[in-house]
Amino acid sequence: SKPLSIGVAGLGTVGAGVLKLLAQNGDIVAARAGRPVTVGAVSARTRGRDRGVTLDGLRWHDDPVALAADPGVDVVVELIGGSGGPARALVEAAIAAGKPVVTANKALLAVHGAAIAEMAEGRGVPLAFEAAVAGGIPAIKGLREGLAANRLMRVAGILNGTCNYILTTMREQGREFGDVLAEAQALGYAEADPSFDIDGVDAAHKLAILAALAFGRPVDFDAVHVEGIREITAMDIAFAGELGYRIKLLGIAGRDEAGISARVHPCMVPVAAPIARVDGVFNAVVAEGDFVGRVMLEGRGAGAGPTASAVVADLIDIARGRHTPVWGGALDVAPAVPMERHRGA
Ligand code: HSE
Repeated sequence: SKPLSIGVAGLGTVGAGVLKLLAQNGDIVAARAGRPVTVGAVSARTRGRDRGVTLDGLRWHDDPVALAADPGVDVVVELIGGSGGPARALVEAAIAAGKPVVTANKALLAVHGAAIAEMAEGRGVPLAFEAAVAGGIPAIKGLREGLAANRLMRVAGILNGTCNYILTTMREQGREFGDVLAEAQALGYAEADPSFDIDGVDAAHKLAILAALAFGRPVDFDAVHVEGIREITAMDIAFAGELGYRIKLLGIAGRDEAGISARVHPCMVPVAAPIARVDGVFNAVVAEGDFVGRVMLEGRGAGAGPTASAVVADLIDIARGRHTPVWGGALDVAPAVPMERHRGA
């Protein structure tokens, strides 16, 4: 049947990864999507750069917003990043044109997600963002679909691959923060502005999205407490180790009668805790539901392959006509009661 033609805005690490995945796994994708998924047009700041993928025969738009109006584009894939500017303009133009959007943009969704979701739902246009949280881990589908039957009382995790990579490498090699950061950047894990990673902002963006899914309502991003890992030294990590702890940058969100709380900061985690063993670029997402109990998903949280895997999964959903409300359906229900109370603790 008719191929699904995508327009890709942004050809950095993730954009090139998506093109490579579609070239290499086109047969699998077509089988699962029920039709081929092809690239019709692209847009990026620089044309000439070698990205390790061919751009031959693809229409090129200098202005990303033009992808929304391109009649040869069925779905817009936004991989530009940033909470405003061209990314927001493109997403809104695509929704206005009735074209489904797939985005990896956690900053945009954390800051403007409520308005954008309302716009998409008002027009019945799919807006998918599996790649925005925890790279290759199916965290969005996991919470929104897999755990849909639960009242969730807590969602937490290691949500930034760059920080986890830096903390792990500092521990294993006794090195200091500064020179390990450059390595994470070279591996394609860090944001264009790496202060978003190391100051905890990127993790907070992802936590705000997870909390919105878990608790059924958009979270005020400015109300999230954010603290990063800049101040942590190799000696802190070594001392924590001697006491039986790992230092991890965690995002933690909860809901009780008092409301929703969300915070990101470095934590001392006992070595025996499952999350303490999540190392390197791996992320973990932990959720607690009233019927399922505790669930932990683990996988690579950054990089071309894992993030492309999530983007294309969303494209397959759209090709199949699977369409879920952005935050899983607005909830107007009683807050979750912590598991301990059920257990009589
Ligand atoms: N810079 C992010 C990270 C990329 O390191 O986790 C994935 O969102």
